[in-house]
Amino acid sequence: MAASVLAGCSAPVPGDTSSSPALAAERPAKLGLCMGCHGESGISRIPGTPHIAGQDEAYMRRSLTHYRDNRRQGGAMNAAAGSLSDGDIRELAAWYARYPWLGQGHDEADSGGPAAPATENDTAGGDA
Ligand code: HEC
Repeated sequence: MAASVLAGCSAPVPGDTSSSPALAAERPAKLGLCMGCHGESGISRIPGTPHIAGQDEAYMRRSLTHYRDNRRQGGAMNAAAGSLSDGDIRELAAWYARYPWLGQGHDEADSGGPAAPATENDTAGGDA
């Protein structure tokens, strides 16, 4: 009877290289606030909403802080970032930064028409 029971081979491997790096990241608690517009992986399907997959992490932290504090005007972003804590911002920036940057050639599933009509009433002649 061989009594050599292998008892020590159940060491969990802490998240090493997995196929999707984001899977190893902790899912931000506030991600649900962002997914509707930027998607879970930072790919937007809404005209006028930027892709943020793989965007620079520090830049996103700064942008989100500025949106939250109304130092950067971004329409919906000011509301979306309004309730974020510094910790939320760190998590979200890290989350989206982990995805691969699209660069170019993302699939353009939309119609491709111009998003906003250009009206010409900027400089209509003097301010009041
Ligand atoms: C209602 C749609 C909407 C929601 C919800 C939303 N965003 Fe945005 N986001 C936008 C739009 C539109 C812009 C571009 C705003 C501008 O012109 O500055 C933007 C811009 C950004 C930018 C700056 C990108 C750049 O290149 O400068 C970041 C980062 C960002 N969003 C992250 C988030 C995060 C994180 C959340 C969740 C807390 C979120 N957004 C929720 C629509 C949204």
